[in-house]
Amino acid sequence: MRLKYTSAVHLNIEFISFKAVYIGEKNLEKFIIKGGRRLQGEVEISGAKNAAVAIIPAAILSDEPCVLENVPNISDVSISLRILYEMGADVKFIGKNTVRIDASGIKDPVVPYEMAKHMRASYYFLGTFLGKFKRARVAMPGGCYLGDRPIDQHLKAFSTLGASCTLDHGMIDIQAETLLGSQIYFDMVTVGATINTMLAAVKATGMTVIENAAKEPHIVDLANFLNSMGADIMGAGTDVIKIRGVKKLKGTTYAIIPDQIEAGTFMVAAAATKGDVLIKNVIPKHLESITAKLEKIGVNVEEFDDSIRISVDGPLVKTSIKTMPHPGFPTDMQPQISTLLCLAEGTSIVTESIFDNRFRYVDELRRMGANVSVDGKVAVIEGVGSFMGAPVTAPDLRAGAALVIAGLAAKGVTEIEDIYHIERGYESFEEKLRSLGADIEKKSVPGVAVRKAL
Ligand code: EPZ
Repeated sequence: MRLKYTSAVHLNIEFISFKAVYIGEKNLEKFIIKGGRRLQGEVEISGAKNAAVAIIPAAILSDEPCVLENVPNISDVSISLRILYEMGADVKFIGKNTVRIDASGIKDPVVPYEMAKHMRASYYFLGTFLGKFKRARVAMPGGCYLGDRPIDQHLKAFSTLGASCTLDHGMIDIQAETLLGSQIYFDMVTVGATINTMLAAVKATGMTVIENAAKEPHIVDLANFLNSMGADIMGAGTDVIKIRGVKKLKGTTYAIIPDQIEAGTFMVAAAATKGDVLIKNVIPKHLESITAKLEKIGVNVEEFDDSIRISVDGPLVKTSIKTMPHPGFPTDMQPQISTLLCLAEGTSIVTESIFDNRFRYVDELRRMGANVSVDGKVAVIEGVGSFMGAPVTAPDLRAGAALVIAGLAAKGVTEIEDIYHIERGYESFEEKLRSLGADIEKKSVPGVAVRKAL
């Protein structure tokens, strides 16, 4: 069966080979939402974006083919797979969300700017190339909508392992004669640097110990994936991860964990519309901090083995939230929960402790009637009775999801532009919402869509 590649989101693949036609630089599409409808019914959560964008490059470390299951069909995954394909890997979808990767054809560990610029997580190719080839050239990751996002801790880890790191005309160039297991202490908790160090150290000589390691579920998922290939990683999920280098990694079949941020987004959407929704294919333990805050706001949360039910039968009330590394409240849920607090009685305080600039969506919420004042990393939210529908623009991935939640709860029509941000991390977002009763549709915006053949 032949399917055609249509856009950065709807990744349809020729089952014979992966032929990506283009990745939309800026898909000029928008969501139109008629708000005020309660979400009701059941929804299935897809595989975790932040696990997938680490595990896909990690497949390069194996000398044999790997099969990944529960891969979300989102543009960040399309881009990661595209990079592998362009470098000579054999990439085949053998099911809607199952992909087979044989990276033995990759000989030249280089990711040029043209490809790296589409996705920040392309820097995971640095760690995986260093781990496999002892050299890598990857374009410096782009600036970011969340504020300053340096990679000094990544480079510090690579250097500690024995690599030389230089910046050469926008390309990060790293190489090492040998990689020696070492003690690495991060100055702050960093998901990316923890992941990149694991990728670089898994085939190093000797033991690497990462102190002050990130503990997110996708860190554990990556460790489990690597161990299923024969790696020797202990302690993932704690702040000390030990990696004993091995010589060879074999092929494996591995299912990616469900996306706890997608699950949290649907939990908040159900609460904001005072709905009643069963969210399936989740790991409740990954949602504990989100569940705790929703219950404090007055939301009913019922946990089952692999699903969670959200309902509201009373007023939403104010609370205070500070984003923290896992197991604290996730920064990737901050825009969504802040949107919900706009509808709660009283004054809420939200502190963003991870990124410098993660309140850009507030200006958009104000168009919808929100009453929020931001001072640096702190937002003071005065609850308002409801949102009014309005034209808004998604400034980034999670902020875009928050604006969808606001539109679902609003009185009237909300139009959201720049939805390509949202489609980086949410598979079939509008279809899933429609299946819960939302009145949401996607429309193309007249004008020349900027598309580049890659
Ligand atoms: C990952 O970004 C996620 N991205 C982000 O999710 C998430 O918000 C973030 O972790 C925190 O959980 C992916 O996994 C692809 P960090 P990352 O390194 O790795 C500073 C989403 O919405 N820092 O944990 O870039 C950094 O500036 C995205 O899915 C340094 O100073 O985050 C930030 O303030 C958005 N130097 C803090 O640490 C470094 O070398 C945490 O960053 C590295 C990080």
